[in-house]
Amino acid sequence: MPISYANRFQQPDAVAAYEADEYAADSYASRIWQLERPVLEQILKKLRRENPGPLRLLDFACGTGRVLAVLEPLVDEAEGIDISGNMVAVAQAKCPKAWLRVGDILARPDLLGKNYDVISSFRFLLNAEPEMRRRVLCQLRTVVREPGGLLLVNIHGNSRSLRHPAILWRRWRERTEQKNTMLNEMSPAEARQLLAACGFEIVHQFGFGIMPPTLYRTPLRRIAHAVDKMFAGENGWSSCSIDMLFVCRPC
Ligand SMILES: C[S@@+](CC[C@H](N)C(=O)[O-])C[C@H]1O[C@@H](n2cnc3c(N)ncnc32)[C@H](O)[C@@H]1O
Repeated sequence: MPISYANRFQQPDAVAAYEADEYAADSYASRIWQLERPVLEQILKKLRRENPGPLRLLDFACGTGRVLAVLEPLVDEAEGIDISGNMVAVAQAKCPKAWLRVGDILARPDLLGKNYDVISSFRFLLNAEPEMRRRVLCQLRTVVREPGGLLLVNIHGNSRSLRHPAILWRRWRERTEQKNTMLNEMSPAEARQLLAACGFEIVHQFGFGIMPPTLYRTPLRRIAHAVDKMFAGENGWSSCSIDMLFVCRPC
């Protein structure tokens, strides 16, 4: 039976692999994060300029604090929630000022505060089960500040990108095996539809990584990264980028 996404990062070996392998210094994920991180920082700085009051952030599914550690210094109050205590234990060391909690916001909505100026959630939606995505987004919709609050979410597996052929190949290769590989995909239109159904309107869409990730494991990796750097950001390429970042407002 496939493992649920809520259970996927519960064990210490999964946490260690996320930190040491997925986000190894020169991994594909780290190279894409190098492009995405400054964009996120700019979004938060702009929000700060436009809002004279204190800024309150929630990082949902904060994991080991990769994103929260970057956003924490840019806000006045930072909170993180994740369902895995082992992931949160790592985050606590990276985010000393953030208030971190472990639990399921669907079973325990009291874990959430109210009126967050920014809610971020990275690398959660794509791999969560469809019903879970919808229920979580609807729950987050009830606690984002209205009007003016922001939801920052990404889909790190665009089905309209050059990652798609590799996913088809891996699905075919693993068709008879019971592996727990994450081979999910979502198109920009599906993401837009999901967010709209949960009460969010996309106001900006950024894209990161148009080259096939496999190139990053070849001698062509420097060229692949240079091309990805050139095409990253809010432009016409975002809908065919592997990682899409959506900036949303409640509607
Ligand atoms: C791939 S990690 C991403 C962590 C972090 N956001 C990042 O981008 O590095 C996905 C995280 O989602 C968490 N998660 C999965 N299902 C969840 C749920 N129902 N509620 C809260 N967190 C959940 C996992 O425990 C894991 O830490």
